[in-house]
Amino acid sequence: MTPKVVRQIAELREEIAAYRRAHAASAQVGLVPTMGYLHEGHASLIRRSAEENGLTVLSIFVNPIQFGPNEDFDRYPRDEERDLKVAAEAGANLVFLPSVTEMYPDKPRTTVSVSGVTERLCGASRPGHFDGVATVVSKLFHIVQPDRAYFGLKDAQQVSVIARMTEDLNFPVDIVPCPIVREQDGLALSSRNVYLNPEERRQALILSQTLSQVAGWIEDGMSEAELTVRIRGRIRSQPLADIEYVEVATYPELGHPPADRPLRESREPLLVALAVRFGKTRLIDNVLLFPSEVK
Ligand code: PAF
Repeated sequence: MTPKVVRQIAELREEIAAYRRAHAASAQVGLVPTMGYLHEGHASLIRRSAEENGLTVLSIFVNPIQFGPNEDFDRYPRDEERDLKVAAEAGANLVFLPSVTEMYPDKPRTTVSVSGVTERLCGASRPGHFDGVATVVSKLFHIVQPDRAYFGLKDAQQVSVIARMTEDLNFPVDIVPCPIVREQDGLALSSRNVYLNPEERRQALILSQTLSQVAGWIEDGMSEAELTVRIRGRIRSQPLADIEYVEVATYPELGHPPADRPLRESREPLLVALAVRFGKTRLIDNVLLFPSEVK
């Protein structure tokens, strides 16, 4: 069924309140926050929400405050018509498509900043990015008041930041992390993949190819330093790859694993995450390993 498109916060609140009134105790609302240009990864989040909730709200909003001054806010891909088709096929009931002035009538004076989990990985290379994410997601949580919210693990650090914020600020929302969706050849789906030219896209396959070997290397007894050197070496085999970071972190706290022991002895899940540029396109990817998967 075609979802209803809502552009105003007040109207969205009315729609959700009407659904809750009609369904009383059984009412369950799922929220899938996105920046649009939807792909199969987003569709998988919408489908999961539609399975688990009576009402699925998809938000599409390219959030200016999570982009740095030299980042791609202006050229971030947008295609409302196509997004609405994907939303309908995947089972969204309401699509919230606010303008920037609807979300930020004034420059926000109140922002949400999560410490600790934002210090490494993308938090270190994109200063202020996670403040922008935490602020917009907390606004969406207040506006929609969902029972569950769905986020893809390609942005594993984002999931960790939002889970921390949700707990610290007592949002009554279950955060549902969902698996990374990949192209058949392994490239992690991302709205930004559209920027890649054919040669960059071919070379970008090194990311998933390398990450798919990480569990084996950890099983062989590698330390954090040995693993990151090995990964960097593999990625550098592709001349267009420009590495921003390759890091190993405990998950979800994103601390350093003990440096003096092989990673396979970790009692906490491990996130091996990277950000690499191919031409002007910055790609991120990761693998999340639980202790039982590397012993
Ligand atoms: O992952 C994204 O698309 C964005 O960071 C989010 C969570 C929708 C906030 O703008």
